[in-house]
Amino acid sequence: MTALTIVLTGACGGIGRAMAVAFASAGHNLVLVGRSAEALAELRDGLARSRSHRYVVADLASAAAIVELCADIADGPAIDVLVNNAGVSSFGLLAYTSDALMEQMLQLNMLAPMRLCRELMPLLLRSQNAAVINVGSSFGGIGFAGFTAYCASKFGLRGFTEALQREFANKPLAVHYLAPRAVKTAMNSDKVVAMNTELGNAADEPEVVAEAALKLLTCRNSSNRYLGWPERFFVRLNALFPAVVSGALKKQLAIILRYAKPSLISDSLPIK
Ligand SMILES: NC(=O)c1ccc[n+]([C@@H]2O[C@H](COP(=O)([O-])OP(=O)(O)OC[C@H]3O[C@@H](n4cnc5c(N)ncnc54)[C@H](OP(=O)(O)O)[C@@H]3O)[C@@H](O)[C@H]2O)c1
Repeated sequence: MTALTIVLTGACGGIGRAMAVAFASAGHNLVLVGRSAEALAELRDGLARSRSHRYVVADLASAAAIVELCADIADGPAIDVLVNNAGVSSFGLLAYTSDALMEQMLQLNMLAPMRLCRELMPLLLRSQNAAVINVGSSFGGIGFAGFTAYCASKFGLRGFTEALQREFANKPLAVHYLAPRAVKTAMNSDKVVAMNTELGNAADEPEVVAEAALKLLTCRNSSNRYLGWPERFFVRLNALFPAVVSGALKKQLAIILRYAKPSLISDSLPIK
């Protein structure tokens, strides 16, 4: 396929790194986005055809930094694809979820992709192969105890993606929602990994998500791609019969609450 120029956020994270390797190995050119110049340079230098890639440092929690990032991208070579992959998660009871944590999750997981799509859309639409891939989560389709703020942010991202797909239905732009289930990256704390093991929830290698993203690059129609079985089935079931999924999750609630409750004296005071 044609070599594309792909803007990839969260490039130095677990899934981002696997995507960078897969995209570069397939002959695409990358604009790697992250917060550490050192980590970005090291990533770029290790990629196939390292001189075809560049990196830009940006903190996506800041609206001003996103505007600067997009101006920087506009000064460079033409772009074809935006992959909104950067994200943060947090596991714990709502009572212990601070304002700062809620805001950080909404900023990173929802507002940053929205702002990047808006700012980069004029550049993307110049390409014959224009595409956006928003990395969501199965928790963008199923509300899960202990992940209230994360679920809110990913449900928001899914709604934004659906609206964007429809707003650009008459333009040559593919908008994809790529929703992994649990993935083996640093995003998941030891508690989350232990809980998933006890609940029997499988976790994928980041390369599985990267492979799915690579396939989406060849898909000219907008799509929603949920990874993993039975998660994909439960997302559909939840959309049609949420009470059935609520009933199944209620049986797991005691286990989830055991892991979600604070374990340190210092974080045992509810946020007021
Ligand atoms: N891991 C899972 O189980 C899982 C499951 C479903 C969906 N996802 C989604 O997959 C995506 C990637 O997650 P991951 O598992 O690869 O997580 P990760 O290893 O923790 O990587 C997260 C990435 O987000 C970037 N990031 C965080 N805060 C940022 C900020 N303020 N500005 C710019 N970048 C920021 C980090 O950049 P730095 O390198 O600068 O720190 C890092 O590269 C996320 O959207 C996540 O919600 C993950």
